[in-house]
Amino acid sequence: MNVAVIGGGRMGAGIAQVFLATGAHVTVAEAGERASAAARERIARGLRVAEEKGGLARKDGPGDGGSPAEEALARLVTGPVPAGADLVVEAVPEDAALKVRVLAEAEKAAGPHAVLATNTSSLSVGELAAGLERPERFLGLHFFNPVPVQELVEIVTAPATSAETLARAKEWVAGLGKTGVVIRDSPGFATSRLGVLVGLEAIRMVEEGVASAEDIDRAMVLGYRYPMGPLRLGDLVGLDVRLAIAEYLCERLGPRFEPPELLRRKVAAGELGRKTGRGFYDWD
Ligand SMILES: NC(=O)c1ccc[n+]([C@@H]2O[C@H](COP(=O)([O-])OP(=O)(O)OC[C@H]3O[C@@H](n4cnc5c(N)ncnc54)[C@H](O)[C@@H]3O)[C@@H](O)[C@H]2O)c1
Repeated sequence: MNVAVIGGGRMGAGIAQVFLATGAHVTVAEAGERASAAARERIARGLRVAEEKGGLARKDGPGDGGSPAEEALARLVTGPVPAGADLVVEAVPEDAALKVRVLAEAEKAAGPHAVLATNTSSLSVGELAAGLERPERFLGLHFFNPVPVQELVEIVTAPATSAETLARAKEWVAGLGKTGVVIRDSPGFATSRLGVLVGLEAIRMVEEGVASAEDIDRAMVLGYRYPMGPLRLGDLVGLDVRLAIAEYLCERLGPRFEPPELLRRKVAAGELGRKTGRGFYDWD
């Protein structure tokens, strides 16, 4: 299988790594030579970690062509999207105009056989198809961070996505050993929509003095088996990121996503969570 990944940052490098681990030939298209070298190094590091954990096997038999990580890395090319790719996954920054442009360019380069996918975490997949000649071959593949570890992929179908494209995407996701859930293109897909709603309600509960942040988190961890409470998770994701998603969902889905005043105040005060040392928790 030939896969092209556009953007070899945090997500693109992870996506390239997991496809390499299945034996695919992968091209990573980056913005310039320095970014290409950085992407290659990121992927090489990821492959070495996977190998150390025993999670990587050679795909060309035992042979004597180096370690499993070296063998996988030999199937990686950095450069433009090649003609004849089976799948092109776009993972450039979350900017709709940029994504529309690179997807249209990738469609021309890859040719009529390719399926195109976007790894957007929040933008409308249907709207990202704006520049495509064959929108029926396009859909969302929303991987989670870190890609090699996270099992879920949201497979997001736009109005024009064909049944055949969906079927191929399901097969590829399963081939990665991941679990795909099929979501009709809608703001926040399944995960952000529900996750953010719970997070916002938890903030409103702190605001109303219902319980402390620690106790709300403890209640969900122990009572509902959440791996982590919603407020702690918000601190890890970044409260500025949470606020931006809530504003977007509020605009698209209505006032049930209205960001609480306390969230706005914390962001305005620079209390963004772990990255600034303070959010709902003290991280120092
Ligand atoms: N980080 C996460 O937790 C996460 C999770 C799921 C989805 N996403 C989505 O994945 C996408 C990428 O996020 P990320 O965290 O990997 O960002 P990132 O900034 O780590 O990586 C983006 C990469 O794209 C490259 N790039 C920029 N312009 C380009 C161009 N024109 N052509 C080719 N490459 C270009 C950059 O050099 C960079 O390496 C975004 O849409 C984001 O919303 C992110």
